[in-house]
Amino acid sequence: MKTTILLSLFATFCSALVQRDRRFPDDFLFGTATSAYQIEGGWNVDDKGENIWDRMMHTNPDAITDRSNGDVAADTYNNYKRDVEMMRELGLDAYRFSLSWSRILPNGLANKVSDAGVAFYNNYINEMVKYNITPMATLYHWDLPQKLQDLGGFASPLFPEWFENYAKVAFAQFGDRVKHWITFNEPREICYEGYGHFTKAPILNVTDVGTYYCAKHLVMAHAKAYHAYNDIFKPTQGGVCGITISVNWLGPLTDSEEDFFAAEIRRQAEWGLYAEPIFSEKGGFPQELSKIVARKSAEQGYPTSRMPAFTEEERKYVRGASDFFGVNHYTAFLISANEYKVNWPVPSVFADVDAGLTMLPEWEKAVSVWLRRAPHSIYKALMHLHKKYNGPIFYITENGWSQIPEDGCEDDARIRYYRAALNSVLDCLDAGVDLRGYMAWSLMDNLEWMEGYTERFGLYEVDFASPKKTRTPRKSAFVYKHIISTRTIDP
Ligand code: NOJ
Repeated sequence: MKTTILLSLFATFCSALVQRDRRFPDDFLFGTATSAYQIEGGWNVDDKGENIWDRMMHTNPDAITDRSNGDVAADTYNNYKRDVEMMRELGLDAYRFSLSWSRILPNGLANKVSDAGVAFYNNYINEMVKYNITPMATLYHWDLPQKLQDLGGFASPLFPEWFENYAKVAFAQFGDRVKHWITFNEPREICYEGYGHFTKAPILNVTDVGTYYCAKHLVMAHAKAYHAYNDIFKPTQGGVCGITISVNWLGPLTDSEEDFFAAEIRRQAEWGLYAEPIFSEKGGFPQELSKIVARKSAEQGYPTSRMPAFTEEERKYVRGASDFFGVNHYTAFLISANEYKVNWPVPSVFADVDAGLTMLPEWEKAVSVWLRRAPHSIYKALMHLHKKYNGPIFYITENGWSQIPEDGCEDDARIRYYRAALNSVLDCLDAGVDLRGYMAWSLMDNLEWMEGYTERFGLYEVDFASPKKTRTPRKSAFVYKHIISTRTIDP
């Protein structure tokens, strides 16, 4: 008996030692992320054009929890030097931010480039580069120029061409310093929430077809920008271009075959719709989901499937068109075939997928209704993608935790979340996943879309009532700084 106890104590001691030794590689990029509309403000300065969030928040304030908007936000337009100073305080290797399309091209189309818009991003990027912070630029983080929305937005077959032209302007203007490009941030949220539902601008809510039209044009637009970069800019600029997809872990609730199948279909609907055409060997939309939508479309009297197909030529053009897989990861959901909902208050998100989402009560809750600290969820999600898509290069382009404003700079729950997440990242590295970087969401508090300023994700607190939008580091900022400088999670 005694020997068993001693052996088990010895094993725990050894595993603690191994844990202590676990280090992030020196070239692993630690960063934080933000997006233009959520922090910049300056919504109508110089010749900036209106975008779909400006329009929606100005015309439909009731849709926003606190009736706020992004007119000023954290005023990064005037505070960008302070933002870069915060990056230096944290010791970041990289910073992920997004370009506002209508700040650069006021009408959305490439015939008129705004000198003021380009100058703003030049200053911002130069400030990062001056301090050796690697800029990672997202071309599209949800703020479509309103004029292009008026012409049909992502539902228009012209969308890929509009996006390619915008991307070429950005590559030409900033590509001498920006070597990491992300075309789209979270296609699911753009297409499903904006076109198939009413939870993001332009809240079109065309449930049966909106998501799928948008998905096809978004994926084609991504591929066009990727090929333009690869053919025209990469030979001299030498960077990489990828896409960021939201991948929360979606696993079966039970071991039953039905739940396994339901989870697979759910994964196809939530992220496979965008990942499969680009990263799978075969290309095109996910097979089982395509069959389900085709069958339901026929039953509903549509002459063809509501999900548009890729031609053979398109399929080949899109397949493999990404240098890396950007993953935004926050949480996990368990999927059940039988329960429409278990303890999850939001109805099934896809009309074509009849399955319930569950979060376990023991998972610690954040303030965002969809966010809990689910154990090992990064590991489960990345291992799944790693196996499914044959070991692509990954970046975690977002991961973070929300709290209420009243909690101020006390954010122990966020610290617990980041520690657990980064442990999971180390597990991925140990398992051979080619993961090159991790961007915490977010550098600072910002406008949380429909929730306005009621949910705070920042490592830095922003005092939105103060004229300068004063930024103050939270406890978690010091912890993250320590992790970055020591390359370990040890306290
Ligand atoms: C993902 C989105 O990209 C970002 O804009 C948002 O603020 C965070 N999730 C938190 O909801």
